[in-house]
Amino acid sequence: MFITFEGPEGSGKSTQIKLLTSWLHEQNRHVLITREPGGTRIGDQIRDCLHDVNNTDMASMTELLLYSASRAQLVQELIKPALAEGSVVISDRFADSTLAYQGYGRGLDLQMLHRITNYATDNLQPDLTLFLDIDVQRGLARRIDGNEEMNRLDLEAVSFHERVRKGYHELAAMPRWVWIDADRPIDIIQNDIRKIINSKL
Ligand code: TMP
Repeated sequence: MFITFEGPEGSGKSTQIKLLTSWLHEQNRHVLITREPGGTRIGDQIRDCLHDVNNTDMASMTELLLYSASRAQLVQELIKPALAEGSVVISDRFADSTLAYQGYGRGLDLQMLHRITNYATDNLQPDLTLFLDIDVQRGLARRIDGNEEMNRLDLEAVSFHERVRKGYHELAAMPRWVWIDADRPIDIIQNDIRKIINSKL
């Protein structure tokens, strides 16, 4: 089973994934946890380039292709083999982030993005996407308060992040998406996530 987490900045995906992982390990499940961009040696090099705050002159198309290249490596090297072995795969972001950020955020053509992401993923689709939704200003403030490392996209204008969130709301209408209010205590959100996953496993 392939589960992805999506959401705007500061939605708490990594905290929730950590808690979920220990719960799945308690049940002796084989789990592969990964993240995008990165997750592989080559992907992490691409991540450094993508998130370098000095790369202010990166063209949107370059950005799209680098995220896609990192994803192609992750799918081939880790995700497909793990799924073939019957593991549960959990990814902190996947192709939907490209639709939200490069599509709705940057304004790149959505049809073209679908073609490129389908090529990069070899048409692999998540079985379940958990969308952790949070108000843009609240999410960005959480990242600053949590002293988290700021990347090139965090530094975009609030209006960019608002477009991304709106895009997520459109994407979340698809059947594999489950919307989760991420502006609640961590344990309550985790409880909801476990219930949803329990019903699917
Ligand atoms: P994160 O690891 O803190 O979630 O940071 C990843 C950043 O990269 C976040 O700002 C979203 C952005 N991103 C894209 O713009 N497009 C993509 O396809 C992916 C996977 C991430």
